[in-house]
This record gives sequence, structure tokens and C-alpha cells, in this order.
Amino acid sequence: MVMGHPGSGNRCACFAHFVTFCVVVLLFNTCLISAVVLKSVNVDMDMDLSHVARRVDERFLSVTIDASLMAEEKFMYLLGSPKLRTLANALTPAFLRFGGTKQDFMKFKPQSEYYLKNSYSGDSHPHSGPACSKFELPPVLEEELKRDWAVQALLLRQEDVRGKYEQVTFSEYAVDLLYSFVNCSGLELIFGLNALLRTPENVWDSQNAELLLNYCERQQYRMSWELGNEPNSYEKKAEIRVNGSQLGEDFLHLRKILQNSELYSSSGLYGPDISQPREHRKDLLPGFLESGAEAIDACTWHHYYVNGRDASLEDFLDPKVLDMLAVKTDEVLKIVHSLSPGKKVWLGETSSAYGGGAVGLSDTFAAGFMWLDKLGLAAKLGLDVVMRQVLIGSGTYHLVDNNLDPLPDYWLSLLYKRLVGPEVLNIQVLPSTGRQKQLLRVYLHCTNKESSSYRKGAVTLFALNLSKEQVVIDLPALVSNSTVEVFVLQSAEAGEDGLHSRSVRLNGDVLKMVDDRTLPPLQGAELPPGEHLKLPALSFAFYVLKQAAAPVC
Ligand SMILES: *[C@@H]1O[C@H](CO)[C@@H](O)[C@H](O)[C@H]1NC(C)=O
Ligand SMILES: *[C@@H]1O[C@H](CO)[C@@H](O)[C@H](O)[C@H]1NC(C)=O
Ligand SMILES: *[C@@H]1O[C@H](CO)[C@@H](O)[C@H](O)[C@H]1NC(C)=O
Ligand SMILES: *[C@@H]1O[C@H](CO)[C@@H](O)[C@H](O)[C@H]1NC(C)=O
Repeated sequence: MVMGHPGSGNRCACFAHFVTFCVVVLLFNTCLISAVVLKSVNVDMDMDLSHVARRVDERFLSVTIDASLMAEEKFMYLLGSPKLRTLANALTPAFLRFGGTKQDFMKFKPQSEYYLKNSYSGDSHPHSGPACSKFELPPVLEEELKRDWAVQALLLRQEDVRGKYEQVTFSEYAVDLLYSFVNCSGLELIFGLNALLRTPENVWDSQNAELLLNYCERQQYRMSWELGNEPNSYEKKAEIRVNGSQLGEDFLHLRKILQNSELYSSSGLYGPDISQPREHRKDLLPGFLESGAEAIDACTWHHYYVNGRDASLEDFLDPKVLDMLAVKTDEVLKIVHSLSPGKKVWLGETSSAYGGGAVGLSDTFAAGFMWLDKLGLAAKLGLDVVMRQVLIGSGTYHLVDNNLDPLPDYWLSLLYKRLVGPEVLNIQVLPSTGRQKQLLRVYLHCTNKESSSYRKGAVTLFALNLSKEQVVIDLPALVSNSTVEVFVLQSAEAGEDGLHSRSVRLNGDVLKMVDDRTLPPLQGAELPPGEHLKLPALSFAFYVLKQAAAPVC
């Protein structure tokens, strides 16, 4: 037990910061509607409110849009939907990474000769930022685009399955639509450049990127950059092999170009966006860092738990599958810490299942177990930003569906943003119990101070119940004086089949938008001090301990 700082006269001094509490697992007789307590198991936990274990970026939960949305430019108009902008805005502060496989098959093709010249030095700017209403999508057009998108999404999936990617071009207007979306919804854009444009010597050919940079600079578009997507599989996708040290050189070259630009001289550059470590091409990351580490502001890698084609509901609830993230993260962190100590590490693209997601799972309530656990675990392990594939777009792992309606993981993300601050605190289930330990996963942060309704010192506990039995959490005496605001998320439909629902309940009420520009208030249920926290089976919840008085929060 670590007690308060000796001699400090404030209220913290009488507070044992390192507290233990227990979880009573009540095993109910499932045949009875009214629960009959047969047996209870105690799970002990430690919670340290006296020091911040880690601090993540305030944009920790960020999102992506796959570059395939630009494969046919007209679909970029979807980004003008007021509904989508409302949803995106509620997730700020956050990055929007625009990239993915298709980025390495895309070329900027300006329609106007004007931008082909290198004349971007500071004369008149055509716009000083996009006028948001100018790019707003009229409802009739939105309906038409959504219908066409269903067909396009199918074509894109077929392309992915074939693994052969068509070259496409994009115009200034597509860039304007993208920028207007991020700027008008308050996101920060990271644009992924094509690294497969290469010279006969297999060196990155930067000409096309320079055209795009010139255009964006002229438009005064503030943004950051990436170069290449999953270079470890370039041989499979394009029959080009790029080694780590050459890729590092390519990044240094891009950094030089950015340094010569007034607007981008201090803008972010992130990479190399490698897939999670596998046996194949393990040399790529070390080679890249040895030559190119100084070019990047954060080292990015991608993570998916399972293959979307054969994933099962059991995978989504399996603690062993969830723990694989820790194994992969350790591997990446070891390499980065040894070759580029202090460099931030980001999940540059991540979701539940690769190959576009798992049908009937990645867009349902079930996906929340992987998503919330990833948010908790990644922060605890020291990853700085986690970019969720995708906000909208092809596949089933989107946060917002093809009708532009929010899915369960969107609501989960929104609650996370509102309630969870960047300071990670230590909490652990003590290893005194067997199964229950693995089936209850808990994380603790300071409460997000930006959500003004909470006072200093508040902490947010979030917990996932992977078991089919309810658990009752007994708060320790020292925080049990606190009022608790409870946000329990459950599938909109009961039973195990209900996990496949595309709707979610917050404290019993199904979440939906009030109208296209209005989100519902996300209200917690107040528990008076001293009450137990009851987490239903197969659900997850946030608990704001409003008067925890954690000295570091
Ligand atoms: C949007 O553009 C305006 C004008 O260029 C700029 O002042 C503002 O900071 C931008 N917002 C974001 C989030 O980039
Ligand atoms: C990496 O690739 C470049 C370009 O093909 C080549 O010149 C260089 O020798 C390679 N380096 C290593 C270590 O293989
Ligand atoms: C998880 O759900 C089961 C089944 O309802 C329940 O018995 C158990 O108490 C819950 N666990 C927690 C931590 O709330
Ligand atoms: C909890 O509240 C009671 C009544 O207000 C008070 O007597 C007690 O000291 C408090 N306990 C702690 C640990 O703050």
C-alpha cells in the first residue's frame, strides 16, 4: 500500500492512493428469471491514483478513411454529408488518416496547368480555407450517391480479393472535398502518398508528390503526410521489392521536400505503416529505422486480430485473441526502443479483422469487445495514437454504415472520447482468481477534463465483461464515497444472438441520432455512493468516479 505523501496537508494526505477492491462474481442460476445467488467469487484489484503511468496523445482515438473512396472521385462528395460531418466533429480532437492499399496505386492529375508550374511561393491564394457550406451535399444527391456506393463498395471488395489493383488518378477537386471535410468537421488530415512511384534504380520518384504538395500549399491546406502503405507486401501487390534502408532514404527525401516548403516545414511525417510483425520481411522495420528514423515524427504499424473471412464470434470474445495485441506491440516497441529510443509509436491503421472486416461481426455490437479492449490495452502498453480503420467506406469494419448511420463502435468511440482522458492509471486484477480474471478486463484513466461537467480528480474506470455471468464490482472504501456515473453499453437485442445487432443500448436506451445534425445527450445513470457496480454479461461499461479525488487527475 502506498499512502499519501507524508506531510502534505491537503485532503490527498488522508487518502490511501493505492487501493484494493474486489469484484464479487455472482453465479446466477440461468434457468430463473429472477437471479438466485448460488455462489460468489471475489476478484481483488489494485488501483493506483497517485501517479500517471503513461500519457497518450489527446488525439489518441483517431480514425481513417481508406484511399479507395477516391478510386472513383464522385464518392468523395459523400464527405459533404452534414450527417457525416456532425458525426466526425463529435470525435474531435482526432486525426483522419487518408490512406491504405489504394494510395500506392493513385496519382494526382491536376486538371489545370496552373499548378504544374513550381510557382507556389506566396502570391495570392485562391481560397483562405474552404467555405463549409459550399461543399455541403444536398439531400437528393446524397441519396443517389449512397445507392451507387453500394455497387462501388462491392467492386472494391472484389479488387481486394483478387489482390490486383488498378491505377487511378485524382484531381484537385477530390483533394478539395477531402480537405473541406476534415477542416469543416475539425479533424486533422494525414495524407498517404504513393511510394510505388519508383525510378529504374528503385528509388522513390517524388515528382507526383511534389505536384500535390504544391497544390495543397497554394490552397493553404494544413496537413501532415505519410509515404506508402504496408511496404512489406509490395511484392505481392505490385511485384516490387523495397528494402527497409531504401524506404528510409525515401522518407529522408520527402522530409527534405517538406522542409523546403513554407507551410509544411514543420508538418508531421509518419511511417512506415508496416503490417504487424510476421515471419515474412521482419527486416523491414529495423532497416527503415536505421536509415530513416530521423525523418519521422512517429513510427506507425498496423494491427488486426483475425482474418475477416474465417473469424468467429468466439474470437471476438476470446481473451487469448485480445492478448495477441500485447505480444505484437511488445515486438514492435522492442525494435523501436532499441533503434530509435523515444520515438512515438502509433497504430496507424487498425481494426478487428483484416480483409475488410468479418461479416456480421465487425459492424455489430460484438466488435466493441475488440475495439474497447484495444483502446485500453494500447494506451496501457505505451502506444500514443490508435487510428481506427475506417470511419466510413468499403468493408464491414466501418464506424458509420453505408447509409451514413452510426454503428455500435461509433457510439463506443464517442463515449470514450467524452469520458476518457489521456492519463493512464494503473489498475489490475490480482492473479488470485482463475477464469474470472481473464473474463473481466479493466482499464483506468483520468476522466477527460475537456468534458466540463466533471471535476478535478475524477477517474474513469472502463470494464469489459466477456463472461456469460454478471459481475458485481465492489468499490474500495476510499473511492466508495464517490458518486458514480454509469454508462453501460449492451446490445440492443437480448441473448447471445443479440451480439450481432447493429444497434446498442446505453443504460437501456437504444442510441440514435436526434436528426442529421444532432446527437443525443449521452447521459450516465447516477449511482449513490456505496452502491455496487453491476456489469451485465457480455457487455462493457464506463464508470466515472466523480469524487475519486485522484491527485494526478
Ligand atoms: C480550417 O481552415 C481554416 C482557414 O484556413 C483554419 O483557420 C483552421 O485552423 C482550419 N481548421 C482545421 C481543423 O484545420
Ligand atoms: C536496398 O535497395 C536499394 C535499391 O534497390 C539497393 O541499392 C540497396 O543495395 C539495398 N540495400 C540492402 C541492404 O539490401
Ligand atoms: C459478467 O456477466 C455475467 C453474466 O451476467 C455476470 O454474472 C458477471 O457478474 C459480469 N461481470 C462483471 C464484471 O460485471
Ligand atoms: C466518506 O464520507 C463519510 C461521510 O461524509 C466520511 O465520514 C468519511 O470520512 C468519508 N470517507 C473517506 C475515505 O473520505
